[in-house]
Amino acid sequence: MTMRSTVILGTGSHAPEKVVTNHDLALQVDTSDEWIRTRTGIRERRLASPTAETSDLAVAAALPALAQAGLTTADIDLLIVATITPDTPVPACACHVQRKLGVPTHAACFDLNAACSGFIYALDTAAALLTSGRYRHALVIGAEKLSGIVDWQDRTTCVLFGDGAGAVVLGTSNEPGRGLLGTRLGGDGANAELLCVPPPVPGESGPFLRMRGKEIFKLAVRAMDDAAREILEQQGVRADQVSLVIPHQANQRIIDAIAEYLELPPDRFFVNLDRYGNTSAASIPLALDEAHRAGRVRRGDLVLLVAFGAGLTYGSALLRW
Ligand code: ACO
Repeated sequence: MTMRSTVILGTGSHAPEKVVTNHDLALQVDTSDEWIRTRTGIRERRLASPTAETSDLAVAAALPALAQAGLTTADIDLLIVATITPDTPVPACACHVQRKLGVPTHAACFDLNAACSGFIYALDTAAALLTSGRYRHALVIGAEKLSGIVDWQDRTTCVLFGDGAGAVVLGTSNEPGRGLLGTRLGGDGANAELLCVPPPVPGESGPFLRMRGKEIFKLAVRAMDDAAREILEQQGVRADQVSLVIPHQANQRIIDAIAEYLELPPDRFFVNLDRYGNTSAASIPLALDEAHRAGRVRRGDLVLLVAFGAGLTYGSALLRW
C-alpha cells in the first residue's frame, strides 16, 4: 500500500502596515532601543489597526497561499486557525475566516490554542486528518492580534510582541520521502502560570498577557532543544543534514542558544524577529513564507520547525520540501 504524506502546496503571510520601532516604544514606557535589541534582537514590530480583527490578518495571509497552491477556497475542506487572540471567544476565528474567504460550508472549521506552538500543533492535526483520507485540502493559518492583549504600560512584555499572520495550504502526495516526515509535540501544564492571560478582575482593565520572562527563557531553550533533537532522532537525521531551521521567533538569544546546542551555524536559522517581534502562532508560518519566497527552501531540502509557547507547549516538525 502506498503511504500518503502531507505536503505544503502554498505559503502566504501578512503583516499590518503600521511599524512601531523600539524608539517609538521608548517614548511610552521606560525602555530603550539598546535594551530591547541586546536582550531580544527585536528592532520593530507591526501593529494592526484597532478595527482590524485577527480573522482579517488570517484572510490576508490565506489569499497568497491559495494563489501559490493554484487552488481556490472551493477546494478547501478543512480550515484550522491557530490563535490565542480570536476575534471572539465564540464562534471560532476559523468560522469568521470561512465567512470572509467564502470557504464552502462542507469544510470543517475550528481554532487551535497552543500559543506559540500553535502552528506546529495545527500542522500535525491537519496532517493526521488529511492522511486519513477524509479531507483533501487544508488551509492552516497562524494569526494573532497580540496588541489587543498586551499591557502597553508593562515594559517587561509590551516590547516583545507584534501582530501578523502566516498560512499554508496542505494536500497529500504519494511521492515517497516527501512532505511532513514527522512531528513531536508536548506540553507542561504544571508551568502554566509562567505565561498566561489571567481571568478578568471586575473593575480592572485587561486582562493582559503576563509573563515570568527569565523562567520562560530557560524552559524555552531546553524544550526547543529537546523537541528538535527528538524529531531528528525519530527520523534518523543528523542536525547538519537540515537545510533550514525555522524556529519560533521570540528572542534572538533563545535561537542562538539552540544553534549552539545543535552545533549548527547561525545562518542555518531563519530569523525575522528583528522586524516583527514575537507574533505567537503566526511566527513560524510568517517566517516560513518569507523563507520560501526568498528562495531559502528548495525542493528536496530538509526543513525543521521548532516552537515553544504558553501552556507550556512545545513542538517540532521535520519536512522534506
Ligand atoms: N526595558 C528596560 N529594562 C527592562 C525592560 C525593558 N523593556 N524589561 C525589563 N527590564 C529590566 C527589568 O526590570 C530588570 O531590572 P532589575 O534588574 O532592576 O530588576 C532588568 O531589566 C533585567 O530584567 P530580566 O527580566 O532579568 O531580563 P532578561 O535578560 O531575562 O530579559 C526577556 C527579559 C527579554 C523577557 C527574556 O527573559 C526573555 O526573552 N524571556 C523569554 C520570553 C519569551 O520567549 N516569551 C514568549 C514565549 S512564547 C509565547 O507563548 C507568547
